[in-house]
Amino acid sequence: MVIKLKIDKIIFGGLGLGDYQGIKVFVPYSLPEEKLLVRIREKKKHYWLGEISEILESSPFRIKSKCPVFMKCGGCDFQHADYTYQLILKKLLVSDCLEHLGNIFFPPKNPLPVNPWHYRNKIQMMLGQENNKILIGYYQKNTHKIIEVTECFINPFIFNEIKNYFNQFLHNNNLKIYDEHQKIGNLRFLVLRRGNKTEEILLIVVGRFYEKNIDKFYDILPKEIKEKIVGFLFNINPLPKNRILTENFISIFGRDYYFEELLNKKFRISVNSFFQNHYEATELLVKRIIELIEPEENDQVLDLYTGVGVFGIILSSYVKEIIGIESEISAYNDALFNKLINGCFNVNFLLGKCEEVLDNFNKVDKVILDPPRKGIDEKVINQLNRIKPRIILYISCNPATFSRDLKRILEIGYEIETIELFDMFPQTYHIEVLGKLLRKPNGILN
Ligand SMILES: C[S@@+](CC[C@H](N)C(=O)[O-])C[C@H]1O[C@@H](n2cnc3c(N)ncnc32)[C@H](O)[C@@H]1O
Repeated sequence: MVIKLKIDKIIFGGLGLGDYQGIKVFVPYSLPEEKLLVRIREKKKHYWLGEISEILESSPFRIKSKCPVFMKCGGCDFQHADYTYQLILKKLLVSDCLEHLGNIFFPPKNPLPVNPWHYRNKIQMMLGQENNKILIGYYQKNTHKIIEVTECFINPFIFNEIKNYFNQFLHNNNLKIYDEHQKIGNLRFLVLRRGNKTEEILLIVVGRFYEKNIDKFYDILPKEIKEKIVGFLFNINPLPKNRILTENFISIFGRDYYFEELLNKKFRISVNSFFQNHYEATELLVKRIIELIEPEENDQVLDLYTGVGVFGIILSSYVKEIIGIESEISAYNDALFNKLINGCFNVNFLLGKCEEVLDNFNKVDKVILDPPRKGIDEKVINQLNRIKPRIILYISCNPATFSRDLKRILEIGYEIETIELFDMFPQTYHIEVLGKLLRKPNGILN
């Protein structure tokens, strides 16, 4: 069935949304105001899913995508939109989440443009095989079909080179790739991490069991690449599920961490520790955190979900005391190490879940929250209600859980001063959100 449809807006998830005789129709790779012929692929009870059959009236912001596998590969969502327009779309989709999931009508500020290409400092590529051809790439959207990506435009150039050498190596040495359907074979993922400033690279190959010939891969790499690789690790992951790295590493050589430098501070980042994805956007975000927290000499600040301690360590020279809380041992150990190498002795890190460790605090001036995608636990909201910080900065990579949590924070007596956006993930629908919340006088709701 093919219908005529006008796209009204883009929703979180990157899909265009139009109305067909009262039915919501979602169309990937469309843009607002476009008039389309849409082929209906699936009819659900409350909505339909379609695909573009023909563009009748194109958006003036539609451009030709750079990547030949765009729309096949699930890595990017917005390559068909001019970069400046991507930023507008992201602002609109955050507004939409705030309104629909948080009942919050507050316009976020426009995100600043950052380098839109070759920015990712971490990639996790899938390995597969089709008719004796080895494939290394990303999954097609909503499937486990691997789309080979020879030159990925959001990967750093050096990651593409390493990936292409790896493909050649696997092919020449006839190494066994894991077959998800038949559950045979071994090698599953290629993971690369990189310090933008230091250029240090960690190379990780993931398989169900150790591949003794894997170390020979390093030998085939050219000198300029070898020099940058500070650690080569094999990760053993026999789990059938999607999780990519387990705790079980075998060191082939070098370290299991790399260094990054940001705003004159140095950070050790271990293979399993979190670090933000886009260097320039992270720099903008951290600078803004320092301004928005309004640092004062006597402040005690909590840096919740601290990771390797980035926000706390950079902020430490502006305030009296920082306490970072982190639940993962690897990131916690990095944070302790980073405190020492940067000589920040007014920062302390605690290992544990925020929802539990917060029991130990009664009064704190300011709190930074930067949870994972699932957002914050209800217990954390209750703790914030008890501790009553004057300022809360909530940073999130998920506008949906951000909107849900913000609604709860407003209910315990806070008001929004600003909501700002940082384009941590150009070419995708993802966006980093920063909200500043102020405690109302007496915390009384209007
Ligand atoms: C989005 S990252 C933010 C890290 C850091 N703020 C940064 O920008 O580098 C979230 C961090 O929270 C940690 N985490 C997840 N759940 C947690 C919890 N319940 N309590 C404390 N930390 C948690 C994760 O291990 C991860 O390091």
